[in-house]
Amino acid sequence: MSANTRRDFLRTTTGAGVGAALGMVPVPLAGSPAVLLRNVTPVCIASSNGLAAVDRAMQELADGSYTIDAVVRGVNLVEEDPEDMSVGYGGLPNADGVVQLDSSLMHGPTRGAGAVACLEGVKRPSLVALDVMRYTDHHLLVGEGAQRFAASMGHPIEDILTDGARRAWVQWRAGLGSAGEYLTPAESGEPVRPFERPEGLDDELLDSFDGVRPHGTINCNIVDRNGDLSSVTTTSGLAFKIPGRVGDSPIIGAGMYCDNDVGAAGSTGRGEAVIKTCGAHTVIELMRQGTSPTDACLEALRRIVRWTVEDRLLTEAGRPAFDVNYYAVNKRGEYGAAAIYSGARFAVNVDGRSRLEDSAYLFQRTS
Ligand code: GLY
Repeated sequence: MSANTRRDFLRTTTGAGVGAALGMVPVPLAGSPAVLLRNVTPVCIASSNGLAAVDRAMQELADGSYTIDAVVRGVNLVEEDPEDMSVGYGGLPNADGVVQLDSSLMHGPTRGAGAVACLEGVKRPSLVALDVMRYTDHHLLVGEGAQRFAASMGHPIEDILTDGARRAWVQWRAGLGSAGEYLTPAESGEPVRPFERPEGLDDELLDSFDGVRPHGTINCNIVDRNGDLSSVTTTSGLAFKIPGRVGDSPIIGAGMYCDNDVGAAGSTGRGEAVIKTCGAHTVIELMRQGTSPTDACLEALRRIVRWTVEDRLLTEAGRPAFDVNYYAVNKRGEYGAAAIYSGARFAVNVDGRSRLEDSAYLFQRTS
């Protein structure tokens, strides 16, 4: 452990240690110095595709894992799942038919952060982000360098494009422009299976259309009984994106953020809108001022609405033609989530039970 890491570790554990011995944790409230609260009820909150993830993360926590390992093992379930076409293995590819994955994470107690972007050939990019945090002096590795680092850390480099994701890409390519150079399987006349909505493209994902392409992602945040926090986000990003495009998910402060004095938060949906408004960091700063997790998510979404001025991104009603979801938990174990439009849900585990709850929203969805 480096001198700086050791200092941070001692500062963090010493700060928590006195209170923890009394079953209390320091929690800064708006305009006041840190105060001590009693034991926190552990909570794990994730995007709606994270029901199994919150279950797994809480089990890991109960088994004694650090918060960061708990959330990473939680999202690993989704990354490994070929049926989820928005994350990890089975994720939808870029415009060239190549799957490029993004992930970032933060560990509250050590102030650690790691991320990878445009990573090819690794099923679970969150594990590589974790290695960036633990085994480098950096916070973000991209592209070929990220893959070489992953290989050096023992991650298998493999073909992660599933047949379902490839067929979705073939269908998308056939719809490009009017030149008609590419044919869909149906247009080709070949006796191939007709294109069907791929498994994993659930309604929430489809609702997140940017015109024609879904953004899918999982974000997962946790607080343990000592008030220690972690956050992770992982994604295959915007389907059929320009090769090299990076969304919010691997950007620390956009796709997720964690401040062990305050809370953890993250996002799913149109990454460009989240990057431009420093989304997850904004949610944390609002919570730092004493705003509840749900209200902090809503206010950060209002900022996105104000920042969306391009006609091509607006509906006839002058509202964003896309959706963004925020998820947040604070150091006291209060949690919340919100989306621009009604109908979104989120996964949460509290008191040992995992369930989906309705997200708060700014606007009623009309279509
Ligand atoms: N929020 C995921 C992305 O835009 O890539």
